[in-house]
Amino acid sequence: MPAEAPPAPAAPLLVVRDLCVRVPSRGRMIPLVDRVSFTLGEQDILGLVGESGSGKSVTAMALMGLIDSPGVQITGSALFRGQELVGLPQKQLRRLRGREIAMIFQDPMTAFTPVYTIGWQIDEQIRAHERLSRKQARNRTVDLLAAMGVPDPAQTANRYPHQLSGGLRQRAMIAMALSCNPALLIADEPTTALDVTVQAQILELIRSLRSTYGSSVLLITHDMGVVAETCDTTLVLYSGRVAETGPTDALFAHPGHPYTAALLASIPPLEGPRPERLPAIAGAPPAPLERPEGCAFAPRCSYVHAPCLHAPPPPLVPTGRYASAPRRAEADTQAVPLPAPDNTPRPGNLSHGSPAVQARSEPASLRAAQFAACVLPAEGTPLPPRLKDTAPGPGTPDAIGHAPPPRPPSPSSTIGEPHL
Ligand SMILES: Nc1ncnc2c1ncn2[C@@H]1O[C@H](COP(=O)(O)OP(=O)(O)OP(=O)(O)O)[C@@H](O)[C@H]1O
Ligand code: SF4
Ligand SMILES: [Mg+2]
Repeated sequence: MPAEAPPAPAAPLLVVRDLCVRVPSRGRMIPLVDRVSFTLGEQDILGLVGESGSGKSVTAMALMGLIDSPGVQITGSALFRGQELVGLPQKQLRRLRGREIAMIFQDPMTAFTPVYTIGWQIDEQIRAHERLSRKQARNRTVDLLAAMGVPDPAQTANRYPHQLSGGLRQRAMIAMALSCNPALLIADEPTTALDVTVQAQILELIRSLRSTYGSSVLLITHDMGVVAETCDTTLVLYSGRVAETGPTDALFAHPGHPYTAALLASIPPLEGPRPERLPAIAGAPPAPLERPEGCAFAPRCSYVHAPCLHAPPPPLVPTGRYASAPRRAEADTQAVPLPAPDNTPRPGNLSHGSPAVQARSEPASLRAAQFAACVLPAEGTPLPPRLKDTAPGPGTPDAIGHAPPPRPPSPSSTIGEPHL
């Protein structure tokens, strides 16, 4: 008797492909978010991480249809349970918002209206989507506040936002977001303004949402520690572009992109001797208007070399669970395959995504060099030539004055199969 076929993997909840958000400025269209792609599975938590100004909030607001700047252009695709969100009329988006997709905003103080009690605001959100009486809505509000760990929820519901502490306001915000049991919760820096203890409680609450409410979470943060503790998958954004994405464990164990490695190197170690100074990434990300032609990280990258200045590298994408999901099929078939520079096993289970843009505009020799250098070299692998001849020794500043991030472990301890 033939063996039974394994059950098909559940379809992802949200599939974002080549999302671009452009705004007009000085007579041209400036991309704030540039070809961002990711996949969020049912009941998964995906961490969107990056420095201030990297485009995290703009990505989230674009998904929610909340960007209304004059002349803004949003292109690409965001399929939520098969429904295209990009270009969806506001009327239909309003139906989805709150009921299917909810958002916790970066600052709960300004997200709540100051002139109404928080109970009234949560009641209204429930009644906007469901036919419930005021009393029924209030009962649900009180239940939700209790579930979020708000003490004396019936009384607290009658308070105004300014009468609550930061932690309570954040819990009330999460209660409001969950009031219609959304499938997707977008949490934009939900713990930034909170002290460490309350932050831990809120993160615990967010982790529990998938089991108690069946929700998936897109967690936006600039804190790699929060990502490590909370997220199944991580997407690193830099200057509006994806630097790297992959399962959190693999990405933390073997970062494939110099920016990810530098972010990780700046986390204080929990064990072992404390370094005298934590390595910091010198400089700041470029503003969208000042983004250089090539890789936006080049001015700060310890591995920068000549080809990086001509075109941005393709993002590093995972080859895991959703690798076989249709993605950029048309672009991929047009792409000239990038030659692997050598047979050295690469760290992590990463491969370069969407090489089509590069493939159309650059000679193969340039692409190969950039392809090789943007993945941290395995121990013992010679680095490709840098902008200046003298490669620095470990821990010494490099040709452009930055200390290189630590090298990843040797290839013998890499996770998964090499895909380059
Ligand atoms: N409506 C807008 N019009 C023009 N530029 C904008 C607009 N909204 C955001 N920006 C710019 O887009 C870039 C990305 O902004 P965004 O708010 O997404 O950053 P972020 O990653 O969320 O940062 P933070 O961690 O500080 O919240 C910034 O340079 C910002 O100034
Ligand atoms: S190696 Fe080059 S392409 Fe890769 S991050 Fe550094 S500057 Fe950018
Ligand atoms: Mg933000």
